[in-house]
Amino acid sequence: MSTRSSRSLLAIVSLVAILLAGCDSFPGRPSQAEYPLRPTDVTDFATLYRENCAGCHGLDGKFGAAVAMNNPVYLAIIDHPAMRRVIAEGVSGTAMPPFAQSAGGSLTDHQIDLLVAGIYQNWAGAGDSGAGAPPYSSTVSGNPDSGAQVYAASCQSCHGPDGKGGSVAGSVVDPSYLTLASNQYLRTIVIAGRPELGHPDWKHAASGQPLTAAQVSDVVAWLSSKRPAPLAAND
Ligand code: HEC
Ligand code: HEC
Repeated sequence: MSTRSSRSLLAIVSLVAILLAGCDSFPGRPSQAEYPLRPTDVTDFATLYRENCAGCHGLDGKFGAAVAMNNPVYLAIIDHPAMRRVIAEGVSGTAMPPFAQSAGGSLTDHQIDLLVAGIYQNWAGAGDSGAGAPPYSSTVSGNPDSGAQVYAASCQSCHGPDGKGGSVAGSVVDPSYLTLASNQYLRTIVIAGRPELGHPDWKHAASGQPLTAAQVSDVVAWLSSKRPAPLAAND
């Protein structure tokens, strides 16, 4: 071997050695700390929310297909156990999936606790956000006929006659919408509003008067009466 070629061989060997030694600091190569976590090891609230919830409830809790999680009135009326139950078990018959592994979901109990805590920590408002609000849930069913009057006074100006849509807002009696929305969800919307979309909460009803608990139940009963009957088993 000529001196010249052994010198270039040495150069190549040392170059390779340098490259190998330096591998961990190559740009673009993740360091140990940056390797992606297994999904069940993720404990950062923002990541958990972004990956599991934001698609439907909006990023930063806003502008999603379903109620925003950063609505302070909403967080004032729903308590932690009720929120935890919905996240763990989902709402059957709707697009809200169960997240607990025990219910077929992908999150650990610890991750669900972190989500619930993070939602309140990041987005709950001052203590009186929900002062005087009708209760989150009700066991008394409302009266649809009285609900039609509540609708006329507080909803029709935006959602149009009979709920079929107006110049400001769309239909609230669309069969495919009502089929996929639970009565609890309709109640949630009427009380907590979707302020980010221009739908008012119970306190700022279009009638000019805050909605009472009975009026909330009645208007939900009226909406529910427009829901198509479930298909019979043999349909
Ligand atoms: C595929 C869409 C989708 C995803 C993903 C989703 N949700 Fe939902 N969520 C919904 C829908 C739709 C409803 C309303 C269900 C109903 O009609 O009761 C809902 C309802 C809820 C409610 C109850 C609302 C009420 O009436 O009080 C909570 C709380 C909630 N979701 C939190 C979450 C959280 C937290 C995550 C992430 C871990 C999440 N959701 C992921 C679609 C989704
Ligand atoms: C100031 C106008 C306004 C008034 C008054 C109003 N809404 Fe809405 N509402 C909206 C807008 C805007 C949306 C967003 C969707 C759309 O454009 O249709 C909405 C959405 C909704 C939704 C769907 C929300 C969801 O997340 O699925 C329901 C249900 C609803 N309204 C019911 C009612 C009822 C019941 C009343 C009366 C108690 C009412 N609204 C009063 C403007 C209004």
